[in-house]
Amino acid sequence: MKKNPESGWFGYTRTSPEEKTARVASVFSSVAENYDLMNDFMSGGLHRPWKDHFVAKMRPRAGEAILDVAGGTGDIALRCAKKLREQSLMREAQSSRENITICDINPDMIKVGQAKAIDQGYLTGLNWVVGNAEKLPFADNSFDLLSISFGLRNVTHIDEALAEFARVLKTGGRFYCMEFSSGVISPLKKIYDLYSFSVLPWLGEKVANDREAYQYLAESIRQFPDQTALTKRIKNASFDNVRHENLMGGIAAIHSGWIL
Ligand SMILES: C[S@@+](CC[C@H](N)C(=O)[O-])C[C@H]1O[C@@H](n2cnc3c(N)ncnc32)[C@H](O)[C@@H]1O
Repeated sequence: MKKNPESGWFGYTRTSPEEKTARVASVFSSVAENYDLMNDFMSGGLHRPWKDHFVAKMRPRAGEAILDVAGGTGDIALRCAKKLREQSLMREAQSSRENITICDINPDMIKVGQAKAIDQGYLTGLNWVVGNAEKLPFADNSFDLLSISFGLRNVTHIDEALAEFARVLKTGGRFYCMEFSSGVISPLKKIYDLYSFSVLPWLGEKVANDREAYQYLAESIRQFPDQTALTKRIKNASFDNVRHENLMGGIAAIHSGWIL
């Protein structure tokens, strides 16, 4: 299998890998302030139960070192922190001992996430780090649990990133990836395509004043490996017990695996 076939594409436009990275950075800098609002608008709020379900599957536990890669405005990390606090309240523990790192390549997304965390009362236990998934600034074997939600599609060299995830996870470490998928069941496909290529860019223009960013979203989803191809690539990065669960007929999928 050719490594990283998507690295030369920005959506449907041919680019160099360097240009793809730069254009993805500019998309997220441009939408950062409106990112959360746009997620609600374009998914009709559906991204929330998906993220709740994703974090329920991750089963974060107190004392675990957790890394959320491409963590953006912190939706997954904040849900993990909330779960850990609930667990500690149940145990009447003094401290919930959150140890959650959010790593994202884009400082603008992180800035929005930090403000949101403070608003929600999370002043400690969250470490925000600017870094590239393809070259994570962390030592080998340092995390028990690693997640990436709607991030992998934007990474230029997916196989490099997967290898990095395997490197920074400890033996027994768990990996969870939620991403839109190109393997959508056929009864849904027509209406989903219509929505993606007509409504999404229009919403992007009206709400975030950025049509291109949401055109890129629709195109990048079609360029992303389907569930079976992604499973293969995760296995190639030395993960075991790799499985996936489809959400809404394969519009999105959660892949998981372990480091044994
Ligand atoms: C669609 S957002 C997802 C944010 C968050 N995980 C969520 O589920 O809402 C994609 C994020 O991936 C980040 N990203 C893109 N390429 C990256 C890379 N190579 N390394 C780390 N983060 C990256 C972007 O900056 C952006 O914050």
